[in-house]
Amino acid sequence: MAGHTVTITHADAGAGPGPSAPRMLTGDRPTGRLHLGHYVGSLANRVRLHRRYESFFIVADLHMLTTKNSPADIAAVRRNATDMVLDSLAVGLDPAHSVFFLQSAVPEIAQVSLLLASLVTVPRLERIPSLKEMARDAGKREMPFALLGYPVLQAADILSVKAAAVPVGSDNAPHVEVAREVARRFNRRYGPVFPVPALVRADVPSLPGTDGQGKMSKSLGNAIYLSDPPEEVHSKVLRMYTDPARTRPGVPGTVEGNPVFAYHAAFNDRPAEVADLAERYRSGQVGDVEVKEKLAAAINRFLAPVQERRARFQANEGLAEELIVSGTARTRREVRRTLAGMRAAMGFTAVFTGLRRGARRAAAR
Ligand code: TRP
Repeated sequence: MAGHTVTITHADAGAGPGPSAPRMLTGDRPTGRLHLGHYVGSLANRVRLHRRYESFFIVADLHMLTTKNSPADIAAVRRNATDMVLDSLAVGLDPAHSVFFLQSAVPEIAQVSLLLASLVTVPRLERIPSLKEMARDAGKREMPFALLGYPVLQAADILSVKAAAVPVGSDNAPHVEVAREVARRFNRRYGPVFPVPALVRADVPSLPGTDGQGKMSKSLGNAIYLSDPPEEVHSKVLRMYTDPARTRPGVPGTVEGNPVFAYHAAFNDRPAEVADLAERYRSGQVGDVEVKEKLAAAINRFLAPVQERRARFQANEGLAEELIVSGTARTRREVRRTLAGMRAAMGFTAVFTGLRRGARRAAAR
């Protein structure tokens, strides 16, 4: 895998009384299997960092609900959640260092979200472009209330476990920014409860789809999945969008912005081969088919060990389910503690204790 480095700004990560081992939290909505775009945008960083933190991975089914809420969508969460965990283990997350959890099975997160909601304004959320894009992609004519609140719920996920680091793709960066603002605002208003989470960004541009239309995405049908068998990868790559001006091999082509070369840069472990192909492409001395054949081979070399690991974990029946169930119990304990800390800092605990004391006087009369 070519050059993934990360920049972590720890400048204010220690602003709150964080836990002794710093925590990391990230995850995905359970809408299907993970693809190469997920790998470049976030999985590579997860694998690299997860042993340095206490690492939490959310299966964000409540976030899924903001655009997909049919009973069938919800029923599919069981399968999609286990697929996501298997894909994560396949790319190299160590199950001994990873806490996977199902968001909807930690109801305290919704309470945290509600307490944070009064620290964010509607215009602030309306300025986030990804939310409008999600509404449009889901075919919504009007913005669902829950979708506008998507970043607030995401802030609740992050702050519920007091995460110090959040590795995400660029489309999620504005949501992490909201979480940082909310953490600072809470700490200033009620007392130091939260570390301000650092955004861990992939320093590679997001991967285009096989159709060259924007980013790789399941909903656009332009994705190569981590679990696609070699023949499928081959046929998807051979149908890939490339320089449209190149009508035959003798025509000089453009490498910059060409999705086929973007994939070569991200996945071909033979840099000399890529440089040679790029040079011959520019001077019109190579056919698109050769460039694509070499790309399909490179992606399959990258995926072979991934799929082998996936098959091994999958053979261990119930493993993914067990990781989610035990991880959810573990996460729930942490979130309960955070919620109690928030309620105490905000003064709600004192209010109810006072009411109880008053009620006891009535009972004693
Ligand atoms: N918003 C993420 C996505 O695009 C999923 C997600 C939900 C998430 N909560 C999170 C990511 C907290 C990082 C941290 O699917």
